[in-house]
Amino acid sequence: RRNFLLGGGALIAFGGAYVLAANSGKLKVDLSKRTALKMPPLLDTTNSGKLNLTAQSGKTAFFENMVSDTIGFNQSYLGPTIRMKNGALQAQVNNELRNPVTVHWHGLLVPGEHDGGPHIPVNSGESWMPQMQINQQPATAFYHTHIHGRTASDVYAGLGGIIHVSDNRDEDRAIPSEYGVDDLTMVIQDRRFTSRGQLSYDLSMMDAMHGFTADTILVNGQVNAVASVPKGIVRLRLINGSNARIYTLSADDDRSLHLIATDGGYLNKPRSIDTLRLSPGERAELLVDFGNGNTMTMISAGDPNTGPGGMMGRVRGMIDNVVDRSFVVMPFVVDDRLPVRFTAVPDQINGDEPDLENQEVAVRQFSLDMNTGSGGMMGGGMMGGGMMSNMGINGQSFEMSRMDLKVKLGTVEKWIVSTSMLAHPFHIHGVAFQVLRENSGQPKPESIGWKDTVVVDSVTEMLVKFEMPASQDNPFMYHCHILEHEDRGMMGQFTVS
Ligand code: C2O
Ligand code: CU
Ligand code: CU
Repeated sequence: RRNFLLGGGALIAFGGAYVLAANSGKLKVDLSKRTALKMPPLLDTTNSGKLNLTAQSGKTAFFENMVSDTIGFNQSYLGPTIRMKNGALQAQVNNELRNPVTVHWHGLLVPGEHDGGPHIPVNSGESWMPQMQINQQPATAFYHTHIHGRTASDVYAGLGGIIHVSDNRDEDRAIPSEYGVDDLTMVIQDRRFTSRGQLSYDLSMMDAMHGFTADTILVNGQVNAVASVPKGIVRLRLINGSNARIYTLSADDDRSLHLIATDGGYLNKPRSIDTLRLSPGERAELLVDFGNGNTMTMISAGDPNTGPGGMMGRVRGMIDNVVDRSFVVMPFVVDDRLPVRFTAVPDQINGDEPDLENQEVAVRQFSLDMNTGSGGMMGGGMMGGGMMSNMGINGQSFEMSRMDLKVKLGTVEKWIVSTSMLAHPFHIHGVAFQVLRENSGQPKPESIGWKDTVVVDSVTEMLVKFEMPASQDNPFMYHCHILEHEDRGMMGQFTVS
C-alpha cells in the first residue's frame, strides 16, 4: 500500500469501458490498482517575469507498456502549470509541430493582440512573443491552442495547460496554497483509447453532433490516479479540459464541498454545495475537509447531453436530476504524514463578486444553433468529412473574415444567450461577466462570481464588462466550448474599442 501512497508506481493497464460502469449506490474503487496523482510541473514566473512554452510532439504511456502519440507544451502531453502574478510577463511560444498552433490564455484579462485566438497562429518553426501585462484577481485559468477547425483534435491530443494567477496572500486568507500537497490542480478529461493504448479521436455522426465524449477519465493526463491528501483542509482547483463532457461532480460520501472560487477568482465567502456542474473550459476551486481521515471518491453523474432519456439524451429542465450513469473521477486517501496547515474552512474570503446590475448600455441576443442551414463539407478536415450542416450563432456559422459585433470599450452589456437543444458552455474571450439569471431563476453557485464560461441549458442572462481592447485584426471570440461545436462554427468574433 505504501507504493500507491508515495507514488512512483507504474501505470496499470485497463480496458476502457469499466470506468462508466452502471451505478446504483456506491461505486467500488480498487485503490491498489491506482497510482499516485502527479501534478503538472510548476513553471513559476513570479520572479523571472518570463515564460517559455514549446508545442511539441511526444509519446505518452497512459497504460503500462503501451505508448500513444501525443502533443503537449514543454512535454509530451498537456503542459506545465504556469504560476504568475500581476505585472509584466514576457511570454515566448515556440512551435515545433508541423501544423500551426496558438496559445489562447483562457481566463486572462489581456487585450486582443495578446489573446492567442485563431487570428494569432504560430506557424511551424516560428515563435510568438507577447509582452503581457497581468492585472487581475488570483484565479485558475486555462491555456490551450485555438486554430479554427483544429481546436478539438489538438486539445484532445494534449495542447492545454493550467495557469495560477497568485498574489501570495492565500496564507492570510487561510486557504491552502502548497502546490501538490494541500493545493491540488486537477485537469479532468475524458479520452478514448484503442486496445493498444493509443489515444483515439474518431468522430461518429453522434459525436460530431453532441461533441466527443469518451469512457476513460484522465486527471492531469493520468488514468486511474489516486490523490494522497493531508488530514485537514485541501484545496482542489478543478479544470474541465474535456472536449465536450459536462461533469456533475460530488463526493461519494455526501460530504459538503466548499466552493471558494469560480472562473475569475475568489468568491466573497465560501458556498457549501453538494454537486458541482463543470463544463468544458470552466474552472472551480473547492475546499474539502479531510479532517475525519476518511477516503473520499469524487464521482460524476452522467453527461446531460449524452446520457439516455429526453431530447438528444437530455431531459429538458431536469439537468440536475440526470443521475443515470455515475462514474469515478478520482479517489482521495488521507496520508497522516502530510503536513496539515488548515483545519477549518474560512467564513470569508473577501473575493470581489461582481455587481453590474443596471449598468448595461446595450442588450444583445444570441441563439446557439445546431444547424445554420448552410450544409456542406465541414471545414478543418480533421473530423472525417461527410455531409454535415454547420453550427452557428444567430443563424451564422463562424467566418474568420466577418466581424460580428463591435463593442464600446469600458461599457457593460447584457447578453441573453439561449439554446433549444443540448446544453452548451458559452465562453467569451477577454472579459469577465456576471450571470444575472439562469432559466429565469437565480444563478447556480458555480455560476456566481466573475465568469468567462457558463452552461446555457435554456436561457442565460449575463452582464458582460468590456475592459480590454480588441482590434479588427485581433478580435475576441465568443463561442460554445464544446470544441466540436466551436470547430463547426458555433463561434463569433467582436472588437472592443
Ligand atoms: Cu478556452 Cu476560445 O477558448
Ligand atoms: Cu477563452
Ligand atoms: Cu455547443
